[in-house]
Amino acid sequence: MTARILDGKALAARRRTALAQQVAALPFRPGLRVVRVGDDPASGVYVRNKDRAAREAGLDSETIHLPEATTEAELLAVVHRLNEDPAVDGILVQLPLPPQIRQDAVLDAVDPAKDVDGFHPVNGGALLAGRPGLVPCTPRGVMLLLEEAGVSPRGARAVVLGRSTIVGRPMSLLLLNADATVTTAHSRTRDLAAECRRAEILVCAVGRAELVRGDWVAPGAIVIDVGINRGADGRLVGDVAFAEASAHAGAITPVPGGVGPMTIACLLENTVQAALARRAG
Ligand code: GUN
Repeated sequence: MTARILDGKALAARRRTALAQQVAALPFRPGLRVVRVGDDPASGVYVRNKDRAAREAGLDSETIHLPEATTEAELLAVVHRLNEDPAVDGILVQLPLPPQIRQDAVLDAVDPAKDVDGFHPVNGGALLAGRPGLVPCTPRGVMLLLEEAGVSPRGARAVVLGRSTIVGRPMSLLLLNADATVTTAHSRTRDLAAECRRAEILVCAVGRAELVRGDWVAPGAIVIDVGINRGADGRLVGDVAFAEASAHAGAITPVPGGVGPMTIACLLENTVQAALARRAG
């Protein structure tokens, strides 16, 4: 079997075009502020891509770049100012943060109504309770890719590899809320390969280059690869050994061009959702 390729780049482009049309028809410009602290090069690439995509969609987007030595109090002051600014609908603090800053203190400080990353415990709690809220961008992008591929999670055995607060945990909850039977596997799971082989939908988000081998994939499984890693030869690779897995899977996302572009599209959609919800009171 050769797997169907799930083209996240194309789906994200279509959604961004549709969103730009929606934004152009609004009587105001939704505002996004992306905060970057320090000079992590990968974060620099991500932040530039988010800012550019936001501007292309017609959002009022600005990046606030703070020095590596920024204190927690200084970053909190920036977040509080953005919370109070009526022109700002969405706030995203790019992670990771330098070690002198407690990540939780910063994420807790973001107004939940402007939390377009969906990382505030209020939004996490809403997801846990199956209530509406702002949902983390990457897992939301994965759900849209599944929908586009015509894959219904209802009743399906889904395995999520990874339990991070950014991807794994919210991913498991979204699949559960969509009536999948969900297993969350992680670094302490006794037999990862055996868990993966049971999956009809396999979402891999562990950040380990090509951890998931071809024989971990059940025949016909839908494989979603969230990982973005540098392989031994410097190439960008996912958490899944793509060529091997493609021989078993029914459908698979490439890296790059799979989940990554969907994360950005969902960030823009979350910003518009937050802008509309704030104005609806
Ligand atoms: N770092 C890696 N992924 C993300 C993300 O989705 N949001 C933020 N804020 N930082 C990240």
